[in-house]
Amino acid sequence: MKPSVIDNAIEYVKDIFEKDFSGHDYYHTMRVYRMACTIAEGEQADMAKVQLAALLHDVDDIKLSPQTHENKDRAQSFLKAHDMSNEMVLSICNIIDEISYVGNDSVVPSTIEGKCVQDADRLDAIGAIGIARAFAYGGNHNRIMYDPDVEPKMNMGEAEYRNHISTTINHFHEKLFKLKDLMNTSTAKSIAWHREKFMEEYVEEFLSEWDGIR
Ligand code: ADP
Ligand code: NI
Repeated sequence: MKPSVIDNAIEYVKDIFEKDFSGHDYYHTMRVYRMACTIAEGEQADMAKVQLAALLHDVDDIKLSPQTHENKDRAQSFLKAHDMSNEMVLSICNIIDEISYVGNDSVVPSTIEGKCVQDADRLDAIGAIGIARAFAYGGNHNRIMYDPDVEPKMNMGEAEYRNHISTTINHFHEKLFKLKDLMNTSTAKSIAWHREKFMEEYVEEFLSEWDGIR
């Protein structure tokens, strides 16, 4: 693979995500790219697949680009324009297909490359950045931050998870606090441990301030 393919992929995603305010901006993709490379160094993974799948993982996301989601049109057109083999295009699309958290229907990726990219994407949903992204997403989707009368709904399948409208604090219970134990690689598990602890302290502090009583 020519080194310029990665540079071009970075330019491609910069263009797509520059104006995102839903927690999926260009810097999210770049963090996933760097973290996936770090995780992959400790695994027997094909680095080119990890790099390209990480950079392209959100370009056809169902929430961000519903019309290209099914066929991964944006990822495919980038890869084909860079003369990637059919095998390469298929495996990158497969990695992207298996990455998302969709409640109880989430899958463990079938390849080590997919495991590295999924871990990197999930690490960016927890910790300090994860907290910021959750509130950014909530605001962007007109969700309220918290309602003490609305309980989190656990154990949702894909359709219910996608259609469920809840509060951002509930999202911590419905997804974010589950991610640590779902990490695939030992590198990601050790990073997740610290981020989860920080998030737990944050939610505890949030709730202790909620009533406005010292
Ligand atoms: P995935 O990367 O597994 O497909 P998403 O794209 O749904 O996950 O999530 C990306 C970011 O958006 C995460 O940081 C996540 O916390 C946030 N997010 C997704 N759904 C919600 C929600 N209902 N409330 C708050 N934040 C959300
Ligand atoms: Ni992502």
